[in-house]
Amino acid sequence: MYLYTQIMSDCVKMNYDYHTPVMLQETVDGLKIKSKGVYLDLTFGGGGHSREILSRLEKGGHLYGFDQDLDAQARAPKDERFTFIRSNFRYLKNWMQYYGHKEIDGILADLGVSSHHLDEGERGFSFRYDAPLDMRMNQQARLSAKQVVNEYSEDALADIFRLYGEMKNSRQLANTLVKARAKGEIATTGQLAEALTPVLGRAREKKDMAKVFQALRIEVNGEMKALQKMLVAATQILAPDGRLVVLTYHSLEDRMVKNIMRCGNVEGEMKQDIYGNIDSPLHSVGKMQTPSEQEQTNNPRSRSAKLRIAEKIVS
Ligand SMILES: C[S@@+](CC[C@H](N)C(=O)[O-])C[C@H]1O[C@@H](n2cnc3c(N)ncnc32)[C@H](O)[C@@H]1O
Repeated sequence: MYLYTQIMSDCVKMNYDYHTPVMLQETVDGLKIKSKGVYLDLTFGGGGHSREILSRLEKGGHLYGFDQDLDAQARAPKDERFTFIRSNFRYLKNWMQYYGHKEIDGILADLGVSSHHLDEGERGFSFRYDAPLDMRMNQQARLSAKQVVNEYSEDALADIFRLYGEMKNSRQLANTLVKARAKGEIATTGQLAEALTPVLGRAREKKDMAKVFQALRIEVNGEMKALQKMLVAATQILAPDGRLVVLTYHSLEDRMVKNIMRCGNVEGEMKQDIYGNIDSPLHSVGKMQTPSEQEQTNNPRSRSAKLRIAEKIVS
C-alpha cells in the first residue's frame, strides 16, 4: 500500500500529462540495473520509464531512448547520460553500431501508442475526435490510414480487422467499408466511424470501434513486422545476463514476445541440443505479470498490459 501511494504521488508530482507509465517499478526493476551499464528504452514516449531508469544510473552509465515520433523528441531530458534517437526501434542494432556498443545490459520496450497519440485529436488515432485519417506514429512515414481505408482490397481489409482487431465480423466490416468508399473518399475519422457504425453491435459499439481503429493503426505503422525485427535484434545484442523487458497490449504482440523469450525465435520453434535441452539464448524470468487492480482503476489504459522479462543466458 505504501509503495502504491508513493508511486501515485510521484505520478502527480511528475505530472504525466503526455503518458502515464505502466507498471513503472515492475518494468524498471525487471531490468536489474547496473549503475554504470548501458540501457535502451525503445519506446521513449513521454519518458516516464526513461526517467526512472536514469534515476538508477550513475555517471558512466548511459541510456538511449528511441522513439519514431517527433512529439516524443521534445520531451527528451537534457542529461549527459541520455541520448535520444528518433528512429524506428527495428534499426536498434545499426544505431548501437554507430554509437560503438557491441553489447547492451538491458532493453525495455513498452509497445503501442502513448496517451498523447490518443488525446491529440488531429493525429487521427481516436474516434473520439473528428480529424484527418492519419494514424502515423512517424509523421514522415508514407502510409496513412486514409490510404489503407481507401486503397486496400476488401480481402486485405478483412485480414487486418480479423488479425489485428480480432473482430469476428471482419468480412462484413470490410465489405461495408468498400461499399461506403465507392460513394466517395473516406477522409476523416468521423466518416470512417459513420460508415461502420451500422454494422457494429450496439451494446459494444465503442469497444468495437476501438478495435477497428487499433487494427488500422497496427497496419499503418507496420507494428508487427517492426516488433519481430526488434525482438530478434534485441536478443542478439544483449550482453550475457542482460535483461529484455517488454510490455505488450495485444495478443499477437504477446505471443511473439513469449516465443522469443522461450525459444529464441518469434515463431515459437523449440530447438533442442543433442541432450534434449531447450537451446535458446534467453530464459524467462518469473511469470507474465499484469498491472495491479489499483493501477488498472487509476489508469484504465493499463488494463490490457502484459509484462514479460527474460535474461540472456551466459554461454
Ligand atoms: C506506450 S508508449 C511508451 C510510453 C513510455 N514508456 C512512457 O513512459 O511515457 C509507446 C511509444 O513508442 C513509440 N513507438 C511505437 N512503436 C515504435 C517503433 N517501432 N519504433 C520507435 N518508436 C515506437 C510510440 O511513438 C510511443 O511514443
